[in-house]
Amino acid sequence: MIRQPIVTVMGHVDHGKTSLLDCIRKTTIAKKEHGAITQHIGASEVPKDVIEEICSPILSKIGAKLRIPGILFLDTPGHEAFTNLRKRGGSISDLVVVVVDINEGFKQQTSEVINILKSYKTPFLVAANKVDLITGWIPSKTLSIQESLSLQNSQTLQRLDEKIYSIIAQLATEGFNSERFDRVKDLTKEVVIIPTSAKTKEGIAELLAFIAGLSQKFLEERLKIEVEGSGKGSIIERKEEKGFGVTIDVILYDGTLKVGDEIAFSDGKEVKITKVKGILHPKPLVETKSAAKKGKFESVKEISAAAGIKIIAPDLEGAIPGSPIFVVKGPEDEKIQEIKSEIEKALEGDGEGIIVKGDTIGSLEALRHFLQNKTKVAYFGLGTVTKEDISYASSFKEKNNSYGIIVCFNVDVEKSIREECEKRGIKLITTKVIYEVSDQLEKTLEEIKNEEKKKAEENLVLPAQIRVLPFCFRFSNPAIFGVRVEIGKIKPGYLLMNEDGKRIGRIKSIQSEKVTLNEATKGQEVAISVDDATFGRHFKENSTLYSIIPKEDIEALIGKYSYLLDEEMKQLLLKIRILQLKS
Ligand code: GTP
Ligand code: MG
Repeated sequence: MIRQPIVTVMGHVDHGKTSLLDCIRKTTIAKKEHGAITQHIGASEVPKDVIEEICSPILSKIGAKLRIPGILFLDTPGHEAFTNLRKRGGSISDLVVVVVDINEGFKQQTSEVINILKSYKTPFLVAANKVDLITGWIPSKTLSIQESLSLQNSQTLQRLDEKIYSIIAQLATEGFNSERFDRVKDLTKEVVIIPTSAKTKEGIAELLAFIAGLSQKFLEERLKIEVEGSGKGSIIERKEEKGFGVTIDVILYDGTLKVGDEIAFSDGKEVKITKVKGILHPKPLVETKSAAKKGKFESVKEISAAAGIKIIAPDLEGAIPGSPIFVVKGPEDEKIQEIKSEIEKALEGDGEGIIVKGDTIGSLEALRHFLQNKTKVAYFGLGTVTKEDISYASSFKEKNNSYGIIVCFNVDVEKSIREECEKRGIKLITTKVIYEVSDQLEKTLEEIKNEEKKKAEENLVLPAQIRVLPFCFRFSNPAIFGVRVEIGKIKPGYLLMNEDGKRIGRIKSIQSEKVTLNEATKGQEVAISVDDATFGRHFKENSTLYSIIPKEDIEALIGKYSYLLDEEMKQLLLKIRILQLKS
């Protein structure tokens, strides 16, 4: 027995994902959505007879028979990565439809979606949507794009092909071969592109036929289920539902779930077991989300994969989206260990590095993907930033400045925690857009590097040559006298030597007209006070003095920080080096 494939529709915001599904469901969810933006995942089942009705002409033409019992479609919002459609080592989606507005082409989210699919090795096809907006397009009443293409004039067809070629080129840069559906030669090597319009419904027939055909041809092994096997699913969302308390939306991808079954899931810390009180299943062609509102749920005693369901049970408060949910036989069941190790694996890090906090297991997994090869991560954690996280971050930071970062995805951070981070110099990256994480990390690492550089620059002793002026305010303990900076820069703390390379003392302070200065640069005339030196003995009017530069600083100034020196200072550095070697 093969189950219905789980087909997820993904793509950039507003490219027409929900509208395409509406065409298939013949409903108008897209128009009713708040601001017409999909907020959460919706699951809806399209039964076999509807698929047959829509694409039987195509299937009979190619001599194929429909064997799948239906299709479970999952709609996703285009403004965030869909991260909870996960199961161990991959995605619960058997096949993905990537929707691309043919007039806009690939957008950032399209590429990110392709990237996620690549990392999960999920097969996909492309719906090149909104063909009705191509200049000159003659809409037709047919659901078949093949028929519709025969009605278009050659200029329109050329425009269509130009746009399709740009999608082909984009896919090629991501490493995929692709072709228009009617030119594909080898379905195992080429990604199928189907022109569609959710407005005129053209292309819906081919879209469904290819989904069904690809599923039957390549996914048969994956779709085989043991109906008698115990249910396995993935938690998509946790929701408070009037009259039912906290419920969970689950995609069941294997086996059967019954009322009365014991189910195990993770709350992020431990594995919890509870008993299923009720299973709500949306009627065919109704979506889980709108089913809850309109009472279009059916209460069922048992259900087999694949299905999008709502589970009613006690103790679901801590259930975390992204957690596996398995039917178990008591607390000794080996599947409990499986859940535990899966969650542990999702939270595991490199032991040192930055810290990553997120709202769900799925988002942590996606963050792991986006941060890969960019930084070490000490650990991944669920929920908001805690005091404990900050003290770990501080200790990692002591080892390496670039570890002083906490990344927070979709979690609110309390003001007191923010303040504590600021106090300890821990950088917080907070975002609700997962794709932005790597960019933001790069920026923050750059910031840390610049701060480090600035600090290093401030601490380096620079070459300085100063001339003693005929003003002596005090002869010794400390000696206070006037100087002119001839080359470079002096700062309090600098050690000075004379022309013979002999150490004369340390600059205690620099003043100009009774104002204390942090530094004096070339051309400035200032008064300096110097410990351990006596005016007239160690130096006198018109003497030239030089800064003494520690060995490490000389190396740094020759190497990494050479940009701090102009030509004159470079020459002076050479002279100072020789003087220091002599003495
Ligand atoms: P998100 O859920 O926000 O990511 O968007 P979506 O991809 O689900 O897009 P949606 O289906 O909400 O469509 C966005 C807009 O494009 C709506 O105004 C639709 O009416 C319009 N639209 C979708 N498909 C087509 C199409 O094929 N042709 C035309 N002309 N308009 C379309
Ligand atoms: Mg949508």
